[in-house]
Amino acid sequence: MMIRPCSESDVNDILHVINDAAHIYRDAIPDDCWHEPYMSMNQLRAELDARVAFHGYCRAGRPVGVMGLQNVGDVSLIRHAYVLQGEQRKGIGSQLLRHLLLLADRPVLMGTWRAASWAIHFYQKHGFRLVDDQTKNRLLSEYWSIPPRQIETSVVLADDTWWQAHHPPLRLSAGR
Ligand SMILES: CC(C)(COP(=O)(O)OP(=O)(O)OC[C@H]1O[C@@H](n2cnc3c(N)ncnc32)[C@H](O)[C@@H]1OP(=O)(O)O)[C@@H](O)C(=O)NCCC(=O)NCCS
Repeated sequence: MMIRPCSESDVNDILHVINDAAHIYRDAIPDDCWHEPYMSMNQLRAELDARVAFHGYCRAGRPVGVMGLQNVGDVSLIRHAYVLQGEQRKGIGSQLLRHLLLLADRPVLMGTWRAASWAIHFYQKHGFRLVDDQTKNRLLSEYWSIPPRQIETSVVLADDTWWQAHHPPLRLSAGR
């Protein structure tokens, strides 16, 4: 199995994967949202303390792609999905996402930069659908701990389970 839960000994590799892959944001997201490195070790530690469970797609035992699952209240969040630049578009992110979706035991939400059209397509290919702006502001405030500017410049996508719970399909009655 090439996908496994990450442990303390993977922390440096996780940070490397995130900061390598995040370079694509530099010319895409608003200038005031970009910083280098994209994630510091302290920020990663804070995410681990907040129980973001990272899984790694590993080569020779070391993660080349990472993705986190975080249970918050009645939903699971997909957090920090990153694949090393040289390993992207080979199916690694898809395998990680499918793996985490099997582990999730509640509706799944994910948030990303509005400008990250490639990431939005990636999640749409896996059946996620964008929520409207008002709902995404509410969800990002309720389930994430991110600054107001990031809320403003992000989008949220939700899986089928979330949509069915929040927007059940209309039943056409054969009514009298
Ligand atoms: C998004 C990401 C995690 C997907 O992982 P991956 O291993 O590259 O994805 P897969 O190979 O399983 O799927 C590839 C699909 O994702 C989308 N995609 C990923 N990177 C893309 C890019 N640079 N340009 C356009 N589409 C891209 C496309 O839909 C692509 O399908 P295609 O190759 O048939 O066009 C990875 O590309 C990545 O780390 N990107 C940079 C960081 C990022 O945006 N992370 C998302 C944070 S929420």
